[in-house]
Amino acid sequence: MPRIFKNEAALTPEYIPGKLPHREEQLKQLETYFSGFLESPGSMYPPKVMLIGRPGSGKTVTSRKFGNYVVKSSERVRYVHVSCFLNRTLSSVLKDIAVQLNIAIPKRGGYSTEELLKMLLDMVREKDVYAIVALDDVFHLVNNSGPHALGTLIRLGEEYVSRGDKYRFGLILISQDLTFKDQLDRSSQSALGNTVIKFEPYTRDQIFEILLARAQEALVDGAYDEEILEMIADVSGINESSMDDHRGDARYAIDILWRASKLAEMKGTDRVLPEHVREP
Ligand SMILES: Nc1ncnc2c1ncn2[C@@H]1O[C@H](COP(=O)(O)OP(=O)(O)O)[C@@H](O)[C@H]1O
Ligand SMILES: [Mg+2]
Repeated sequence: MPRIFKNEAALTPEYIPGKLPHREEQLKQLETYFSGFLESPGSMYPPKVMLIGRPGSGKTVTSRKFGNYVVKSSERVRYVHVSCFLNRTLSSVLKDIAVQLNIAIPKRGGYSTEELLKMLLDMVREKDVYAIVALDDVFHLVNNSGPHALGTLIRLGEEYVSRGDKYRFGLILISQDLTFKDQLDRSSQSALGNTVIKFEPYTRDQIFEILLARAQEALVDGAYDEEILEMIADVSGINESSMDDHRGDARYAIDILWRASKLAEMKGTDRVLPEHVREP
């Protein structure tokens, strides 16, 4: 049977590609905002940064890629990525942070959120941990548990500072827009600040380049033409005359490429054809 894929994982949503075309600028901004904290955590008030853009604009993958950079560039600072789609309550977010920081928190229930918070912060202090916490799709937390839950996370550990401890948590908040911020009380808004990194929807040409890079990682050379990628980019790139929700969404484009490649594989052809892309 002819092979289409050489590394199918490179077309899955969780994959972190070697390069992120058209997100170099956003990655650089993250590195720059956090550079002082990464160099000497504990010596400064850690940054709080928001990543804002429509679905599929690369927010999650850029933040995770930054996480890999954090691990490489600092021995002291850890990176924690929390999905607020999966963790919609404060206690669930706190438990996930603890797990990712290898902090043992009792599995059995019966602890209040305040107790969980105290256990986490006591251990963080005892183990002398510093971390950058990314709260992904943070509007789910606010919609489900109210703005107060996020207010607590924005100030995570800061009451310990008044008792002589250091600032320990940098923060990345990821969301489609800034409406979550309007729901916060004034003092949480001011604690959060206004540092925003914008993620614009991708244009047709940008989607093409993203697809090309992913195809090179995922598919056998000669199993696809650039024409195939152009076809997908045509229906996925942002377009003035079409306001479809998926326009500018790289996830949508990569999913079409994966399905077309799968179809080619199933039909036993040795390359992906336009008809495989067109098939619904
Ligand atoms: N610049 C890029 N280069 C390569 N792949 C990208 C890029 N932007 C997004 N992707 C891919 O598109 C999909 C959606 O990106 P994601 O970061 O999940 O978007 P968001 O979090 O903004 O909804 C993921 O599979 C991701 O790897
Ligand atoms: Mg995302």
